[in-house]
Amino acid sequence: MRFAVALVTFVTFVTLAGHATGAEFEASGYHEQHCTRCHGSEVYTRDNRRVQSYHALQAQVARCDANLAMGLFPEDLNALVEHLNTRYYRFDK
Ligand code: HEC
Repeated sequence: MRFAVALVTFVTFVTLAGHATGAEFEASGYHEQHCTRCHGSEVYTRDNRRVQSYHALQAQVARCDANLAMGLFPEDLNALVEHLNTRYYRFDK
């Protein structure tokens, strides 16, 4: 029993430590690696692009991320949204 508790504590620690390093989530690199599987960045700049507000961008990134099932943390998603907004969309918040 004590071993089980120790194991759970250990696993929790490793998970949290993993997340701590995950805090250095790099939106640009992640985007290059995972988000260009179905579409390139041209969908962000095309004339008839669908996303028309910061809120819609958050929603779209969440939808697309769900397809990838990478289990991103909310702050990583935010970093991705920020990245796309700074680089392509330039919405006011
Ligand atoms: C499983 C395939 C798939 C993956 C992977 C994917 N997307 Fe998408 N994404 C789509 C489709 C389909 C559309 C709609 C394209 C269209 O309307 O022509 C889209 C559209 C978008 C748009 C809206 C473009 C516009 O018209 O303004 C954004 C923003 C976007 N994706 C971001 C992302 C991000 C960020 C990732 C990585 C987390 C990602 N996508 C990964 C399928 C995907």
